Amino acid sequence: MKMWEGRFKKELASEVNDFNSSLPFDCRMYKHDILGSIAHAGMLAKCGIIGEDDGETIIKGLKGILADFESGALTFDSDAEDIHMYVEQILTSRIGDVGKKLHTARSRNDQVALDIRLYLRDAAKETRGLLSQLIDVICNKADENIDTVMPSYTHLQRAQPVTFAHHLSAYGQMFRRDCERIDDTYKRINMMPLGACAVAGTTYPTNRQMVADSLGFDCITENSMDSVSDRDFVIELCFDLSLIMMHLSRFSEEMIMWCSAEFSFIELDDAYSTGSSIMPQKKNPDIAELTRGKCARVYGDLNTLLVMMKGLPLAYNKDMQEDKEAVFDAIDNTSTCISIFTKMLETSTVKPAVMHKAAEGGYINATDCADYLAKRGIPFRDAYKVTGGLVAYCIENGKTLNSLSLEEYKMFSPVFENDVYHALDLATCVEDRKSAGGPAPVRVREQIESLRKFNKK
Ligand code: ARG
Repeated sequence: MKMWEGRFKKELASEVNDFNSSLPFDCRMYKHDILGSIAHAGMLAKCGIIGEDDGETIIKGLKGILADFESGALTFDSDAEDIHMYVEQILTSRIGDVGKKLHTARSRNDQVALDIRLYLRDAAKETRGLLSQLIDVICNKADENIDTVMPSYTHLQRAQPVTFAHHLSAYGQMFRRDCERIDDTYKRINMMPLGACAVAGTTYPTNRQMVADSLGFDCITENSMDSVSDRDFVIELCFDLSLIMMHLSRFSEEMIMWCSAEFSFIELDDAYSTGSSIMPQKKNPDIAELTRGKCARVYGDLNTLLVMMKGLPLAYNKDMQEDKEAVFDAIDNTSTCISIFTKMLETSTVKPAVMHKAAEGGYINATDCADYLAKRGIPFRDAYKVTGGLVAYCIENGKTLNSLSLEEYKMFSPVFENDVYHALDLATCVEDRKSAGGPAPVRVREQIESLRKFNKK
């Protein structure tokens, strides 16, 4: 029999029960549900809404249930409609009628809003921690590669010389913003909705602030209707996770390219790559590919949430039960991807000589050549044109800018002198890019330091 049996004359059809039930997936909020109930019962007793003894009995009963879930003595094998009803059912079966007082001045509508906030608080903290570890690995790898010259690309065409440290630090910035976004979302998760009850508050003399304080919330939500119908914070966190996945997916794409024979900039550790069932020579970047693939499903979760909410009238609607599987899926997949990607990156081997060779091949110091002329009085547009001619000459004659003789240089402009070789040396090109945020080692060291400082906070 259901808890709401009073008004009903027939048993619920079993298929409806299965359709309706969220227990198979909201059972993972058991701890949050019970902690929320303990805080609620404590408040009811302190405010004189239930007796002190009843409050104590309820809290003791709830603590016992929590311990039994944790030890495995209790399982989630039940036809209860959701985790909230299930816990209350067990409580009443254990402590008798007193258990029925727990749901005073509360509804499942505000209860589920509380539970999901408590759950997402933990999830946000965990994701934040994983991102910190990833940033740490990025900083260490960047440190080791502060002088590792590689080409930067635009349109996937070799563009200008940078270092691998600079390239990695770019991802460091993305993940730092991801951390900041989660911190910001956390503020909107950390508001306490319980006491809104079904939709319109209650006539009992409750003290919502007391519940907020005992559960460590920053404040209470301000409108009872909004409290039970708001899922913005779920969507916001899912968006944050989507961006993390987008960053991981771009990084994955690069890792996949970099460990191809064509690039060969890095090699993955055997423990973090896979073989082929038929081609013995293969070493596949499955982790990176799966991460790129899983990005799609996290976007899907975000889309589910956005579309699920778009036409809902105030306040609670059962549609909102669909939020959990989507956000849980996004959380699970994002955290797995961050942690495994971190290890894959950490254990990968960088190949500086190959990177340098690629940087030599693509005339990526052509801008520096134009700058060389411009700094010696030639207007940049003209310098650009002269350099274009030089590059065309190199292509025709199978040469690089660094391998031209001074006579050849002078065919294009009398301004060229012997110091052009030093100016066009890739190491010089990188070192001279000292503008704020640039790839020069001094600047990248600053970036790494700032990332590390952020990570320590
Ligand atoms: N299982 C429900 C959910 O996840 C709990 C709230 C149900 N409230 C109700 N009045 N049916 O949203």
